[in-house]
Amino acid sequence: MAFSKKLKQFFSSSPKNNNWNGLIETYKDWLPVTKKTPIITLKEGGTPLIEIKAIADRIGKGVKVYAKYDGLNPTGSFKDRGMTMAISKAKEAGCEAVICASTGNTSASAAAYARRGGMRAFVVIPEGYVAQGKLAQALVYGAEVLAIKGNFDNALDIVRELSDKYPITLVNSVNPYRLQGQKTAAFEIIENLGNAPDWLCIPMGNAGNITAYWMGFEEYFHANKSKKLPRMMGFQASGSAPLVEGKSITNPDTIATAIRIGNPVNKEKALLVREASNGNFSSVTDLEIINAYKILGKEEGIFCEPASAASVAGLLKKKDDVPKNSTIVCVLTGNGLKDPDCAIENNEAIFHTGVDAEINSITKKMGF
Ligand code: F0G
Repeated sequence: MAFSKKLKQFFSSSPKNNNWNGLIETYKDWLPVTKKTPIITLKEGGTPLIEIKAIADRIGKGVKVYAKYDGLNPTGSFKDRGMTMAISKAKEAGCEAVICASTGNTSASAAAYARRGGMRAFVVIPEGYVAQGKLAQALVYGAEVLAIKGNFDNALDIVRELSDKYPITLVNSVNPYRLQGQKTAAFEIIENLGNAPDWLCIPMGNAGNITAYWMGFEEYFHANKSKKLPRMMGFQASGSAPLVEGKSITNPDTIATAIRIGNPVNKEKALLVREASNGNFSSVTDLEIINAYKILGKEEGIFCEPASAASVAGLLKKKDDVPKNSTIVCVLTGNGLKDPDCAIENNEAIFHTGVDAEINSITKKMGF
């Protein structure tokens, strides 16, 4: 083969041809945008669906389990799907500043997209309960950070009031454009599998994402792009499980700080999703979350944050209820790099320190 032809073939088959233009461009017919909407994008979406055999093997029964690895979005979480929509629509409306309450990921995403769109980004976070990576992102992306002596629920009450009184757009999941953007993850899953899965396992905090996924699954189902609807299996951390316990939690607590929420704003919607999908909400302990987190890391090479591992922990807990030969998708909402402290404290790695810089001491440590 001629060298130039080979070269051409190499470039045309390289993995990122830069043809992916973000989820608004890809799914514009399904989203409330017009030609006039200025699209603020970091080319979010299009994340991989990865088979996770280590989990399927623990369940047996011929099941196939996949991870929707949304931690590979531009700021490392699924929030980018909603934020590209919310910020583009805010820009279209002429808004100059946005605000959100956040356990970390929303603040990172809001800051990145708002600044890219030339807007101010105010983020209100619970002091001491936001993972290091997320805080670092909000700072680097140029957010104006207000760390309050209170939890996420207090922060959300405050930003809702502020956005009512001042000319600032609220970009938490009460903003309907957020859920519109997030529903595209369900479209991608259907396109990858050729159908909807039997179960969708998903962590729940404010319960926006489960609502968005259901919207996406329903829209594609009604458009005949899938032949079934999944059961929506939502999981919360046991110290922070208002949707499972059926009451608000005043002092929510869990290692999964992303879902440390006691009074989910999308509660009513989530309950409707559970009913409509014949779904189920359950809780998982921090120990179960960390167990799933470790399996994903050391057996599958997938590093997610603890809140995301709640979906896999939940599936393992419910394994007796899994139907034979079913297809299950677990949503991994955020990247493991978001929370390095959790990673350093929760692993079973062999980590020798202070090793002399010479071959003999190294081979001795290696057991050779
Ligand atoms: N997983 C991660 C990694 C999250 O950051 C969140 C929410 C959830 C799951 C739950 O999603 O709220 O739609 O049910 N994080 C919000 C934040 C609260 O501020 O970043 P949900």
